Amino acid sequence: MEQTEMQKHPNLADLIRALHQIFANDKINVDEVQNLLESHKSDSREWLKYAKFDQYRYTRNLVDEGNGKFNLMILCWGEGHGSSIHDHADSHCFLKMLQGQLKETLFNWPDGEKKELTKNSEAILQENQCTYISDSVGLHRVENVSHTEVAVSLHLYSPPFDSCNCFDQRTGHKKRVRVTFSSKYGEITPLVKTDFQENN
Ligand SMILES: [Fe+2]
Repeated sequence: MEQTEMQKHPNLADLIRALHQIFANDKINVDEVQNLLESHKSDSREWLKYAKFDQYRYTRNLVDEGNGKFNLMILCWGEGHGSSIHDHADSHCFLKMLQGQLKETLFNWPDGEKKELTKNSEAILQENQCTYISDSVGLHRVENVSHTEVAVSLHLYSPPFDSCNCFDQRTGHKKRVRVTFSSKYGEITPLVKTDFQENN
């Protein structure tokens, strides 16, 4: 059967509908979700209303709460902005590029007390690419290393979480931090300082 355009390249609304269907099941096929996210072709007209940039740090902007099964959000990265090294609270994490490039560095979990975290790999994520991480894969840091271009990425976390651990690269020391949203459904939320972003 010939695929329809929607199935080949779902727009953002179709993508969200398809995600709702997939995550209605308890068992998630990571490849299926990753392929679906990768098949979506970024169109800034669809996501511009969610893209709230901050001069000093990257922002997290809620797009959809996935019937309680997942959080879908858009992260906006100014030039040089980056995350701490962090885990993902036992959730699945999918990261799809919507604009620009991000560098993802994978680290191994701390091995003993006060030891520097060891790097596993690094990659430059290109527009429309989708990558996946979970605690079983390891830890990561995500950065917009460009000093001339912003970056925008779409993230899906399932199940949703509101805190995770950030790690000091030199000592492996971890700190539990809350994560918050700069905006929800395109509307700015009251400013809340987050430990998650303060080290960046
Ligand atoms: Fe992450």
